[in-house]
Amino acid sequence: MSGHSSYEPKTAFGKWFHERLPVMDLVKGQALDFPTPKNLNYWWTFGGILAVMLVVQIVTGVVLVMHYTPNTDLAFSSVEHIMRDVNYGWLLRYMHANGASMFFIAVYIHIFRGMYYGSYKAPREILWMIGVIIYLIMMATAFMGYVLPWGQMSFWGAKVITNLFSAIPFFGDAITHWLWGGFAVDNPTLNRFFSLHYLLPFVLAGVVGLHIWALHIPGNNNPTGVSVKGAQDTVPFHPYYTMKDGFAIVVFLLFYAGWVFFAPNFLGHAINYAEANPLSTPAHIVPEWYYLPFYAILRAITFNIGPLDAKLLGVIAMFGSIIILFFLPWLDTSKVRSGTYRPIFKQFFWLFVINCVLLGFAGSGAPDNYFLSHEAADPTKWALTYNVVGKICTAFYFLYFLVILPVVGLLESPKPLPPSISDAVLAKNNKASAVPAE
Ligand code: HEM
Repeated sequence: MSGHSSYEPKTAFGKWFHERLPVMDLVKGQALDFPTPKNLNYWWTFGGILAVMLVVQIVTGVVLVMHYTPNTDLAFSSVEHIMRDVNYGWLLRYMHANGASMFFIAVYIHIFRGMYYGSYKAPREILWMIGVIIYLIMMATAFMGYVLPWGQMSFWGAKVITNLFSAIPFFGDAITHWLWGGFAVDNPTLNRFFSLHYLLPFVLAGVVGLHIWALHIPGNNNPTGVSVKGAQDTVPFHPYYTMKDGFAIVVFLLFYAGWVFFAPNFLGHAINYAEANPLSTPAHIVPEWYYLPFYAILRAITFNIGPLDAKLLGVIAMFGSIIILFFLPWLDTSKVRSGTYRPIFKQFFWLFVINCVLLGFAGSGAPDNYFLSHEAADPTKWALTYNVVGKICTAFYFLYFLVILPVVGLLESPKPLPPSISDAVLAKNNKASAVPAE
């Protein structure tokens, strides 16, 4: 359903330019006139919000780099210099640090939206898989960015995560040393992380281009999941969705500004305001909030299975929890896309969302403490510790993808689908106008 353009240059210069580079043709066909289902709700605005956040991160990042020094002796103080001496340096830094969190909030909403409405199903599998690649690049980029201020959590976080690779049999230590560029997390590590942290957002921008291309071949899914049947089901992207996306972007930017101006350190860790010290390990090493569910999965495996030791199994489970997303289009056996018409799936979907939040909490605490408390559990008695919650939620996470989705898709009887998007919209309007006025 790719939009075809009817662009006619209006001026002599426009015509001259168009004959040499028909870029406006592309803009008109793929952005302005692009036929878009007329029933997209606000959950569909997060793609645009993500694109804006990527630009914000690149722009603030490029300016931050003008004052930052990627050297272990100077990195920490160069960040303090940005905060205290550079004009509006505090704003740049808080925008960039909180921008990363906003980016992840938006991407999680975008992913869950896709999971609820079955946007990963045929013919959008490649679009979805490119999305998973984007998510992986985002995770790597944010991880390396967090190391740059060279605070205590930067250093120890880098140490814990790079050390995970040492669990790989035979080559583990060699891989870890190769990542470090030496025999410890040190200046070469900081330098390469800086280089990659600068590079990857541009790679991301390229992959996002592919993502949009892969979107524009089948066109958007929509809340009914029913395919577009003709022109009556769509409206041109502009002005309908430029306005809707524009409004959502403004609201999202206000939310973002709230964090930047009123709680700029709430999502960070106070200990990262202490300079990295390889001789002093913090009592509690935790990643940023957006990694916590995966951190819980990593720590959930505390037992060996045959020759595979717990650490290796934890690493496999953690990477597996993301890799499994690539297979989602084939694990969900239901022919119906939208969760709206799938009564059983819908309930499991919300359980899955709650489970992910619980995993996040499970990743935030010391494993042997009572859940949601700072108190260490009595080791002689069974107790609901962070680790136990992590174990239960990890089991449910994999159960959801490997058992629940395939089985529910086969057993469930979906509700009747509307014949078309237009029918669904009209039915909704009629229902709304049938409500008697007060
Ligand atoms: C930098 C990050 C990303 C950007 C800028 C981005 C951008 C977009 C845009 C503009 C759209 C169309 C509007 C919309 O449906 O919201 C879209 C659709 C979509 N994205 Fe993304 N995306 C990103 C990450 C992801 C990730 C991580 C996934 C999945 C793992 C994903 C999966 C999808 C899917 C399945 C659709 C089609 C939705 C539908 O039509 O129902 N995206 N994306």
